[in-house]
Amino acid sequence: MCGIFGCVLHDGKQAAPLIHSALKRLEYRGYDSIGQVTVDGKTLFVKKDRGRLEEVDAKYNLDDMAGPTGVGHTRWATHGRPAQENSHPHTDCNSTIAVVHNGIIENYLEIKRELEGKGHRFLSRTDTEVVPHLVEQYVRDGMSLEDAFRKTVNRLEGAYSLVLTSTERPKTIICARQESPLVLGVGDGEYYCASDISAFLPITKKALFMDEGEMAVLDPKGIRIMKSRNGQVVRRDPVTITWDPESAKKQGFKHFMLKEVHEQVQSIKDSIRTLPIYYDLFASKIVDAERVFIVGCGTAYHAGLVASQALAKLAQIDARVIVASEFAEEALDLVNDETVVLAVSQSGETMDTLNAVRDAMSRGASILSVTNVMGSTLMRLSDVYIGQNSGPEIGVAATKTFTSQVAVLLRIAAAVGRRTGKVPVSRITEVEKGLHETPDIIQDLLNTKVEVVQRIAESVNNAKSICFLGRGINVPTALEGRLKLLELSYIPVIAYPAGESKHGFISLIEEGFPVVFIAPMDETHKRIIGNIMEMKARGARIISVIQEGDREIRELSDDVIEIPRSLPSLVTPIVYVVPLQLLAYYLSVGKGHDPDYPRNLAKSVTVE
Ligand code: AGP
Repeated sequence: MCGIFGCVLHDGKQAAPLIHSALKRLEYRGYDSIGQVTVDGKTLFVKKDRGRLEEVDAKYNLDDMAGPTGVGHTRWATHGRPAQENSHPHTDCNSTIAVVHNGIIENYLEIKRELEGKGHRFLSRTDTEVVPHLVEQYVRDGMSLEDAFRKTVNRLEGAYSLVLTSTERPKTIICARQESPLVLGVGDGEYYCASDISAFLPITKKALFMDEGEMAVLDPKGIRIMKSRNGQVVRRDPVTITWDPESAKKQGFKHFMLKEVHEQVQSIKDSIRTLPIYYDLFASKIVDAERVFIVGCGTAYHAGLVASQALAKLAQIDARVIVASEFAEEALDLVNDETVVLAVSQSGETMDTLNAVRDAMSRGASILSVTNVMGSTLMRLSDVYIGQNSGPEIGVAATKTFTSQVAVLLRIAAAVGRRTGKVPVSRITEVEKGLHETPDIIQDLLNTKVEVVQRIAESVNNAKSICFLGRGINVPTALEGRLKLLELSYIPVIAYPAGESKHGFISLIEEGFPVVFIAPMDETHKRIIGNIMEMKARGARIISVIQEGDREIRELSDDVIEIPRSLPSLVTPIVYVVPLQLLAYYLSVGKGHDPDYPRNLAKSVTVE
């Protein structure tokens, strides 16, 4: 998730200062690298580097670039670690075409090889750089810039919002979108494009929305929108935006956390887009290892618990999950140069996790990692890493980063399973297919079940405590539900493997004590019904997250939150956790807390 802003201003005006100020409003979308390009007649001016906006500005003075047309970019790295050469914009061989991009181009490697074969020189490790070179190639083949851009866009697979400027048409911006966001702004004879409205809202409240698969040409004559596939012109009227800049960043949601819960539909798609080659690298390391450990803290530890069960079920690999702060005591004596440690951390800066990794490295272990921040310390300590592509997460409570981590870790387990060949391939493909269905199921859930969760949250607002119970693969989901609720509502929340609850916790049950069951229709269904009966018999209030149509548990429950469709058991945590995230959010708001910045917590815990 990167930030993009572009503008076509009147002759004689300078675009650079406007781009610079717009990037300030977009920095929450990505902040590991910054870049700007302006066009003045036959010259393209590019300033870009890794670092926060003010650091890059201090070094390059971003306001001092000539030309009334230009584009800026704030980066959240997915391909190629934060570095000057990987920052946007990327240009063609002759620096006459410049492109910025937000998203992931899945087929960039084959295009790159094809263009290298035609003599194109690449300077970065990004997927984006193939775009200006491919446009350049089609222009060389005799096409107009606009047609060359459209042909290029139609060759790309994946998610993108792309914005191009060129010396061939210095007063023009050409842009396109597929899945990634891009919106246009209409000024007084001046025109803008941006990854979200907050970028141009202080300049104009007139916005033109682009649909999937559309491209647009912005020049002094105005804005033309067309279908990328066939160039068919699209007529659309601008709408007037009533949001203030702050809520625009939240895209109309009241808090970043709620926005990020809704962003899971896209972030999961982006997280499962990573090229298979990285999964194969992970799989070969894990299969060749004598011992495998998974380490993480908080939500990342819960994602690790899902990974451990998936590796056992899909590959018969025994991967032990350890809370990172306990690694030295619990496992370090078992670590040697035949050991693989898989570290999970969205920030990549959590000190407890880094300490566990460094300890393991000191014993010769190989380090694999799943992280959300490219360029983070964890990424740099790793032998192999996979970026989870969730985009920046502002809310302290991890939501979209959990579901992305689980999605990536399930793909890792599937790749290991294919390599060990210990279980029927059909079981692995079933999980991979289920994974691809999760974004639509979550969208369905968010469209139909939010009010149900809100009502339940209101009804337990005064509860002294709440307990989450799950079995098998949903024990981690119960633990994650607990973590979200306690860090946001400040009430003591409990979670247990449902079977274990009768060995102690059940003594707490009294009339009306809320117990939330995570109960998909999988191999644990029968036994969890038994646990529901045990709690119900002692007066507990039963709140169940179930599959739609599960009459048995519905009849036993006081409240149900129904998941629209069935899923392979291993995939269920990704979807069944969403109602628990919403429950924590609405309970926090109901108690008058700020769900984005809960007390005593930090987004990344960089101390021991
Ligand atoms: C989760 O909502 C919390 N913010 C916290 O437990 C977090 O998961 C933990 O600190 C680990 O962070 P990391 O993924 O950045 O390493």
